[in-house]
Amino acid sequence: MKTMLLCLTVNGKPRAWSIAPGDLLLDVLRREGYFGVKRGCETGECGACAVLVDGKPINSCLMFAAQAEGREILTIEGLAQDGRLAPLQEAFLDHGAVQCGFCTGGMILSAKALLDRHPHPTEEQVREALAGHLCRCTGYKKPVEAVLAAAGGKEAER
Ligand code: FES
Ligand code: FES
Repeated sequence: MKTMLLCLTVNGKPRAWSIAPGDLLLDVLRREGYFGVKRGCETGECGACAVLVDGKPINSCLMFAAQAEGREILTIEGLAQDGRLAPLQEAFLDHGAVQCGFCTGGMILSAKALLDRHPHPTEEQVREALAGHLCRCTGYKKPVEAVLAAAGGKEAER
């Protein structure tokens, strides 16, 4: 099988992986142990596989790994620092916004991208940011409350 070298940054660490040109970013990340990136619909509809690519939410099931060359990827594993959950993660727990958790990593990453752009979003902006994430458990109300609560916290720590 033809392979190529992929060099990128994942959660702040430089990585170099051998991949096939047609590998999806979702498959490569999970192969490398980033299991917080969930495999859901594989058609770009559920948001469970979302990661941040240079700060922007991307469904990793729709992106070839080769397209991540030189980019900075953030997965949910990269949010906690020194064993401490990020305030957005704490807010999701505090507000009962995590049930089975399958959608949670992607939702939190999209929320982070929103708060990085708009530190004090409206409820409408939060709903829009989470719109690409299907959740079968929470009814969306609690995740929205959690993001709005996190927006009231310290911006630098998100
Ligand atoms: S698995 Fe990628 S959007 Fe559903
Ligand atoms: S918490 Fe179960 S799918 Fe969202």
